[in-house]
Amino acid sequence: MASVSKEEKWEQLGLLTPLADEPLPNNGAIAFRDPAFAANKALPVHRWVPWIAGFSRTFVQDAIKRHLDQPGVVLDPFAGVGTTLLEAIRSGHRAIGFEINPYAALACRTKLNAYQIEVAALNRGIARLVSFWQESISSGYTPRSAPPKGFHTRVAFYSPKVLRKALIIQDFMEMIEDQRLRDLFRIAFASTMVRYSNYSYEPSLGTRAGAGKEEIEDFAVLETVAGKLSEMAEDIAWLQSSLPNGQPEVEVIHDSFLHHSKYVAQDSVDLLITSPPYLNNYHYTRNTRPQIYWLGLAEGPRNFTELEEMNFGKFWQTVRERPRVDLSFGLPGSDLAERIETIRDLHPERGVYGGSGWANYAASYFNDCYRFSLGMRNVLRSGGTALVVIGNSILQGVLIPTDQYLGQIAASIGLELVEIHVPRATRVGNSIIQSDIRVAKAHKSHHLYEAVVELRKK
Ligand SMILES: C[S@@+](CC[C@H](N)C(=O)[O-])C[C@H]1O[C@@H](n2cnc3c(N)ncnc32)[C@H](O)[C@@H]1O
Repeated sequence: MASVSKEEKWEQLGLLTPLADEPLPNNGAIAFRDPAFAANKALPVHRWVPWIAGFSRTFVQDAIKRHLDQPGVVLDPFAGVGTTLLEAIRSGHRAIGFEINPYAALACRTKLNAYQIEVAALNRGIARLVSFWQESISSGYTPRSAPPKGFHTRVAFYSPKVLRKALIIQDFMEMIEDQRLRDLFRIAFASTMVRYSNYSYEPSLGTRAGAGKEEIEDFAVLETVAGKLSEMAEDIAWLQSSLPNGQPEVEVIHDSFLHHSKYVAQDSVDLLITSPPYLNNYHYTRNTRPQIYWLGLAEGPRNFTELEEMNFGKFWQTVRERPRVDLSFGLPGSDLAERIETIRDLHPERGVYGGSGWANYAASYFNDCYRFSLGMRNVLRSGGTALVVIGNSILQGVLIPTDQYLGQIAASIGLELVEIHVPRATRVGNSIIQSDIRVAKAHKSHHLYEAVVELRKK
C-alpha cells in the first residue's frame, strides 16, 4: 500500500485549506454552526486537553470570518483551554485570553507557544522517556518523586502499580531543562492522568466504583503518555505549517476577567468570543484537583478556596450558606429579581439545600453577569462585537433563560443587543444542576439549550 505523507493526510482532512477560503455553511445563511466542543476532540492541537462546555473550532472560525475583515484584537475573557485564542492567531489576529484555572491557563499557554517547539527535539525527548522508562522498569528503580502532599482522595487515586508508573514519569519530567518542552510533557501527563486512575469524569469527577466501573489495577501509562506526546508532535508540525507568516501575538492572563482594567486598554478589542461558566454549577475547580495538585499548581485547600471565590458566578457550595445574596443592580422591566425570589421561597424545610441556597447562587451568578457586561463595554471598541455562548438553566424546577437575562443586563448598561441565536435547541446528558427527580420532571416541560448572545458596542 502506498504510504501517505503527513501533508497528504492533512490535505485529505481539509486541514491545509487556508481559513479565508473556507466557505461559510449555507452561504452564511445559518447564523452559526453548532458551538459544541465535541468536534474539537479530533482536531490538531484542540484535541490535546479535553474541557467541558467549550465550543468548536468551526464556531470560532465562523465568528472571526463574519466579524473581522482585517487584522484585529480578539479577546476571550473565559479562555478555558484556548479554542478562541488558537483560532484567532491562526487567522492572523492578536489574541488575549483570561483564565483563572491554573491547569487550563497552562494548557492555553502550552498550546499557543507550541509553534516555537522544534519537533525533532520533542521526538528526541519522547525517545529519551522510553529509554528512561525501560531502564527504570528493568532495574527495579525506586522513584524519587512522591504524590503531591495536599492531594487527599476518598479512595486511592492510583493503584500501587499505576502510582509507581506515574512517579517514574514525574521523575523524568523533573529532568527536562527546557521549560517549553517540559510543559508539553506535563500537559501530556495531566490530560491523560485520570484515565489510569480510580476516578472518572461522569462528567463530574467521581470514583470509578461509584460510576459502576472496575477499578484500575494496572495500565499502559508509558504508552498512553508517549502516544499523547507523539500526537502533539504531529500537531505541532501541522501548526507550524498552518500559521500565517510572522510571530503570532498572544497573551494568556492567569487572572479573573473581572480584573481586566489592569491588563486591557479601554476601547481596544475588536471582537470578543467567549463561553463563560454556565449557571449549572459545573465545578471546574474541583474537577481539576488532580491535575492542579500533580502539576504542582496548588499546595492545599486555601488555593482552591481562592479559585472558588474568583470563579465567575461562584458555586452553589460556596454561597448557599451565606446570608441572603441579592442582585446588586436594578433591571427595570425584567422579571429576573422576581424569578430569583420564586426560587428562594421553594422548600424552606430543606434549609440551605432548598430554595434559599439556590437563590443565593443565581443572584451571585447574575451579579457577575452585570460585572462581565461592564467589562465588555469597557474593553470593546466602538462598533466592536461580543459573542457570548451561554446555556440556560433549571434551578429547583424553575427555568432560568440565562441568555435573555444576560441580553437584558448588557442592554441596560448601554450595549446593543443585536440578536440571540439558538444554534442547538436541546442540550441533554450533561446537565449538572442536580441529579434530582424535580429536574427530570422539569425536563419534560422545558428545553435546555445553548444560545449565542450577540452584542455590539455603540
Ligand atoms: C465554559 S469554560 C470556557 C471553555 C472555552 N470556551 C474553551 O473552548 O476551552 C469557562 C472557563 O471560565 C473560567 N473562569 C471562571 N471564572 C473566571 C474568571 N473570573 N475569569 C477568567 N476565567 C474564569 C473557568 O475556569 C473555565 O475554564
